Amino acid sequence: MLKAQYMANVEASIGWTGPTTCVSGSTCTVNNAYYSQCLPGSSGGTTTTPTTTPVTGPTTTASAPTGSQTPDAGNPFLGHNIYLTPFYAAEVTAAAANLTGTTQTKALSVAKIPTFTWFDTVAKVPSLGTYLADASAQGKSSGTPMIVEIIVYDLPDRDCAAAASNGEFSIADNGQANYFNYIDQLVAQIKQFPDVRVIAIIEPDSLANLVTNLSVEKCANAQTTYLACVTYAIQQLNALGNVYSYLDAGHAGWLGWPANLSPAAQLFTSLYKNAGSPSFVRGLATNVANYNSFTTNSPDPITQGNPNYDELLYINALAPVLQSAGFPAHFIVDQGRSGVQNIRQQWGDWCNVKGAGFGTRPTTNTGVTLVDSIVWAKPGGECDGTSNTSAARYDYHCGLSDADQPAPEAGTWFQEYFVTLVNNANPSL
Ligand code: BGC
Repeated sequence: MLKAQYMANVEASIGWTGPTTCVSGSTCTVNNAYYSQCLPGSSGGTTTTPTTTPVTGPTTTASAPTGSQTPDAGNPFLGHNIYLTPFYAAEVTAAAANLTGTTQTKALSVAKIPTFTWFDTVAKVPSLGTYLADASAQGKSSGTPMIVEIIVYDLPDRDCAAAASNGEFSIADNGQANYFNYIDQLVAQIKQFPDVRVIAIIEPDSLANLVTNLSVEKCANAQTTYLACVTYAIQQLNALGNVYSYLDAGHAGWLGWPANLSPAAQLFTSLYKNAGSPSFVRGLATNVANYNSFTTNSPDPITQGNPNYDELLYINALAPVLQSAGFPAHFIVDQGRSGVQNIRQQWGDWCNVKGAGFGTRPTTNTGVTLVDSIVWAKPGGECDGTSNTSAARYDYHCGLSDADQPAPEAGTWFQEYFVTLVNNANPSL
């Protein structure tokens, strides 16, 4: 999946208050109404006014289910225990069986750390029912209600600006209807267990791609469908009354660049409002499957030029813009693989970055009211993308010199990478 497409030298239009001309030697190229880029070449000093229509969410909410329930005030992670998904625990246990000594002990401890479960195919949806039933029973016997953490990840033409995580549905082949059915199936499972709270991250990378990557044909073609699908997802989940959702918002090195903040805020807010301001959409998730630190006093040199060089700086820059536009977003931040910094050659490198370590454990003690929880969203040990250059989903990022190789297909187990995460965990396991 694409984890960063940033343009350091940007001339954006809507909401952009910086310079509106390119330096001599580069030309302004308009990608969309939010986003223009100074590309090297020909006449410098040009100013171009975008002519395309701004990206906004679909405006029809007529058929949207109206949730009758009111979310609990405050942080939805509080007052609950988080369910440990057997799927990841089984992966970790199998991996640990091949290890010995302290590495094995440390590896096994990962199975006890709450990690989101990705529903990246429709075939996996029935397993959610099993997890929810299990969680419901655990909640009843302990007296403390449970949370099941899920990632909704099956858009048609998924991962439109990269190749590694291309999904099962295609827009050209009934993709939107297939996606609606996928959401309906998730909803049918969750409906059976109103006593279990679900925390959902919605569609990693999709909206961020609509902010910065509409110059990629596949993303431009997917724009309307992504918006319709994400809107459907949040409305249907909202109506259940026990699902708190966070829309994926890329990370500091992607939408955190000053030129991208305002276009991003505009897209999130319009989507949220056009969906009817669903009350269980709690906010945004950042750094999902990425490697950035939550806070740091010593910025990684690759972040140079971006004042928002960590996730909290990004969040603190984005939140007020969202708030004033009518989206009072709170945040969760993935730190699952952020234990080691200064390991990337470029901030845009996202694939199995070598030398990574498990990071800060999930906690609601974030020190910041805006941030509900540090979470582990990417199950550490599951691969980001194959390094096999002849594979259909080969993405060049997975062949870079800072990408661990040989690497299997995205989502499948990558034993050597898992062992590195265990050994480099910070704090240590
Ligand atoms: C893959 C998914 C997988 C997820 C979590 C993504 O990169 O495309 O198949 O479920 O990572 O590991």
